[in-house]
Amino acid sequence: MQIAIDGPAGAGKSSVAKEVARRMNLNCLDTGAMYRAVTLKALKEGIDVHDGKRMGKLAKDCKLSVEYNENEGTLIFLDGEDVTGEIRSSRVNQHVSIVASSPELRKELVYLQRRVADESGGIVMEGRDIGTDVLTGADFKFFLYASIEERAKRRWLEMKSKGTDVDFNELLEEIATRDRLDEERKASPLKVAAGAKVIDTTNYSLEEAISAVLDFIKQNSEEGQ
Ligand code: CDP
Repeated sequence: MQIAIDGPAGAGKSSVAKEVARRMNLNCLDTGAMYRAVTLKALKEGIDVHDGKRMGKLAKDCKLSVEYNENEGTLIFLDGEDVTGEIRSSRVNQHVSIVASSPELRKELVYLQRRVADESGGIVMEGRDIGTDVLTGADFKFFLYASIEERAKRRWLEMKSKGTDVDFNELLEEIATRDRLDEERKASPLKVAAGAKVIDTTNYSLEEAISAVLDFIKQNSEEGQ
């Protein structure tokens, strides 16, 4: 069983994917964490994030590994070190979509993502290009969406609950910029995959979004027909 969940920042992908995986007893992979980890490495080493070829080489040369934890979701290790918390910094937020526009880097990370999927007994994978590129043959494809104000609000509350005070308008601006870069890039831009079920979560609670995904799977799986 392979389930692909794509969509922009703050649409609820990570929380929904984690919970769907838990309830269906599947593995789960947040692919954004991989793009973030390479971004962190580039920033730490002072490498120009606009140099796409260099980003590809960086992704190839660094030791990136992921672990699935039922409660915490994707844990990510860079050169042996757990960077799960560090990759959420605002500096990484500001640079990750530039790094992710490199076709050379995407090739390396997509290779790893497919390997994780192959080695899992079944997986829920979330990101921007899972249904359109990484797992084109997925059993179910979802595209989660919400208004930008709602997405910024969710992210603001999430950061506040972790003790990080950010300016709401700055956060909204950062998400809008990331949306634009992700939608306009040439390599695997963010778009709705053919056959994907689009779910607008603007007025949904987390539980409602989870149910929307699970109900769709139930109604459309072979056993249910
Ligand atoms: O959690 P949030 O939605 O803020 O972002 P994320 O899923 O951690 O992804 C961070 C960035 O990585 C995105 O804005 C994309 O630029 C890039 N990304 C991508 O290009 N392809 C993916 N499959 C996942 C993430």
